[in-house]
This record gives sequence, structure tokens and C-alpha cells, in this order.
Amino acid sequence: MRILVTGGAGYIGSHTCVELLLAGHDVIAVDNLYNSQAEVLDKVSFLGGVKLQTELKKSDNIKGYFFIEGDVRDSSLMDDIFSQYNIDIVVHFAGLKAVGESANIPLDYYDNNVQGTLVLCKIMQKYNVKRIVFSSSATVYGAPSSVPVNESSLLSATNPYGRSKLFIEEVLQDLYKSDPEWKVVILRYFNPVGAHKSGLIGDSPSGTPNNLMPYICDVASGKREKLFVFGSDYSTKDGFGVRDYIHVVDLAKAHISGVNYTIDGLNNKGVLIANLGTGQGYSVLEMIEAFKEVSNQEIPFEVVGRRKGDVAECYADPLFAIKTLNWSAKLGLKEMCRDSWNFQCKSNV
Ligand code: NAD
Ligand code: WQD
Repeated sequence: MRILVTGGAGYIGSHTCVELLLAGHDVIAVDNLYNSQAEVLDKVSFLGGVKLQTELKKSDNIKGYFFIEGDVRDSSLMDDIFSQYNIDIVVHFAGLKAVGESANIPLDYYDNNVQGTLVLCKIMQKYNVKRIVFSSSATVYGAPSSVPVNESSLLSATNPYGRSKLFIEEVLQDLYKSDPEWKVVILRYFNPVGAHKSGLIGDSPSGTPNNLMPYICDVASGKREKLFVFGSDYSTKDGFGVRDYIHVVDLAKAHISGVNYTIDGLNNKGVLIANLGTGQGYSVLEMIEAFKEVSNQEIPFEVVGRRKGDVAECYADPLFAIKTLNWSAKLGLKEMCRDSWNFQCKSNV
């Protein structure tokens, strides 16, 4: 298959490009490099075993790994891409993802995430490319009333980022209702962590990390003095917040299943919505302990007040993805911590 990967230089996008290339697909990655660096492209090319090409050239039968720097909201660029390459499927990662930031600059989030998807889908429709795998998030469940969370759990959003994901899910479902030729796979990721086992690619947020794992990595490497733990008074197993952490390589592999499902799994209904999690919840304290053990580093921490908007406990019911996509997470907490730490160590040399 010839697959357009938007946001292909980002954290999850880069790992997915590697897996798609290894599976023999031709990949055209488009990214405006707003939250990623061009250096990742050579690493993806190396890990995927396919030479990187950066020239847009007209061909009905392009092969390999291409990168195009640009914005999915740029309809003339998107038109160029779709007119020059016979794309079969789009895997759509491009977007902004910081929950806290989204409350301060909501228009940027709606513009990038929602408008970006609208531009993309319009061009897809124009060129009759009607298969899409979309990155949604467990954030669409808001504060779940019970765990584990399954796909029929109530949806809600507590911030513009979450609302942008909910809205895009609706847009894609409306597209299918308007035209049953659309094949849509919506994947709701829980908490992606870890890195490729080579340590060449991983999560490298700019500035102060918002998420737990990159913050722990910074503390373990001495970049930051201590971790601030947001609350120890939740009604959870040990009072600390509980989440479903999932290894990014497991997540990347789920996209291969998602791509395949748009080809042969959506005969009767054109939209599949699936949780991507392990089904296992770990607390912040358990994460600290697991990371300490794997890295052999101290992780000093201080418990502070709860973070606004945080929920006590959120983990997936993963059964639907296992059943429909024939995919399940294989890597455990140890591998997640080991690979995050390996990436951190290799990035600092
Ligand atoms: P990321 O920021 O590392 O990757 C997103 C990539 O998209 C970046 O390389 C960025 O430069 C690019 N991009 C942003 N806007 C663009 C635009 N308009 N045009 C072209 N490129 C653009 O984020 P990630 O963690 O890899 O997340 C990928 C997707 O998964 C996002 O849609 C995110 O909302 C979703 N998601 C992420 C998480 C998570 O915790 N990482 C959880 C659930 C869902
Ligand atoms: C995990 C746990 C924190 C940092 C967010 C988004 C969600 C999704 C994934 C995109 C919580 C605690 C964290 C720190 C801490 N992204 N923590 N100290 O909040 O579950 O989800 O990222 O879709 O939409 O909301 O992940 O990694 O921020 O937090 O104590 O410095 O770690 O309170 O219990 P979260 P996280």
C-alpha cells in the first residue's frame, strides 16, 4: 500500500513509519516540523531499511520512503501530493497535543486539529482516497465514571484539545454516513510511553515535559532536580493517579492492523473505533519504582497538590481491539521504562 502519514516526524508517527516500512508499505510522510526535528527522518529511514527521498516527483508507481515538509492545512500542497502520488490510505497523526496549552490557545488547537483534518478530508474526497486511520485519544472519555473504559463509555471533553478530538471523530463518522465508501478507523490511545529499542527515536518534548515519563527521564538523567507528583490522596490502590501506559512500538504496530482493517475489515460498517491500551493500570508510584529498578537511578520526588483536570484512574478495556484488529500490546512496564531510559541516555551523548 502507498500510505500518507501526516505528522510522520513526530513521536508516534516516526515509530509508525518504521513499522509501515518494515511491513513493506510505501510511506509518504508529511510534517511541518512544528514539534519534531528533521534528524528523525534519517533514523526512520535507517530503522525501516529504506532510503529517504525528499523530492516530490510525479509518478504513478513511487516506491520507498518520502518526506515532504509542509502543513496539512496547506490545501495547495496537499493537492500537489494527492495529484502526484496514488495514495491508498492516510494515517493522520498531525496535530497539537498539549492539554494545558490548549486551554490558553484554543483557536490554534481548533485550527490545527479540526481545520487540518477538514482540509485533508476534502482533498482525500477530491482524489477518491477514502481510507483513513485517525489518532484519537482516551481524553475523549473525560473523567470516566468507571474503569476499565470501553468504547461505549460516555464521551466528554474538559478542554479544547479533547473537544478537537471528539469533533474530528464526529466529522469522520458524518463523512461515512454521507458516503459509505469511506473506511474509517479511529484509534483512541491511552498513555503512550517508551521508545524504539535502538534508542534512536523516542519522545523528546521541547521545554518542560507535561507528561510523566519524559519528566521522570529528565529527573533520572539529572536534568531536573525532582519530580512533582500531582496528588497522593486519590481513591486508588495507593492514593496515586493510575493510568494505562502503552509502549509506543505496540501502538505503532496497531496502525498496521488499522491500515489492514480499512482494506478488509470494514465491509458492512465503515467506521471502527477502538481503544489502544494494555488494560493494566499503574500508579505514579509504581511508575517511579519500575523506572528506578530499570535505570538504577534515584528518582527524587515531592508530592504536591492535584493537577487541575486530572482524573484519579483511567485504563482501557482492550478486548475490542484484540477481537477486531487482532492486535494486543505485547510489551510490559519494564520494556517501557527500559526503552525510555535507553533513548534518554542515547539522546544525551
Ligand atoms: P507529536 O507532536 O510528537 O507529533 C505530531 C506531529 O505532527 C509533529 O511532528 C508535528 O510537527 C506535526 N504537526 C502538527 N501540526 C501539523 C500540521 N498542521 N501539519 C503538518 N504537521 C503537523 O505528537 P504524538 O505524541 O506523536 O501524537 C500524534 C497524534 O496522536 C496526535 O494527533 C495526538 O493528539 C495523538 N495522541 C497522542 C497521545 C500522546 O500522549 N502522545 C495520546 C493520544 C493521542
Ligand atoms: C500521568 C499521571 C499525573 C506529570 C495526558 C493527556 C491525554 C493524553 C496523554 C493526548 C497522572 C501524573 C504527571 C508530572 C505527575 N495525551 N504526573 N507529575 O494526564 O493521563 O494524559 O497525556 O491525547 O490526553 O491528558 O498523562 O503523563 O500527563 O500524567 O504526577 O510531572 O502522572 O497526575 O496521574 P495524562 P500524564
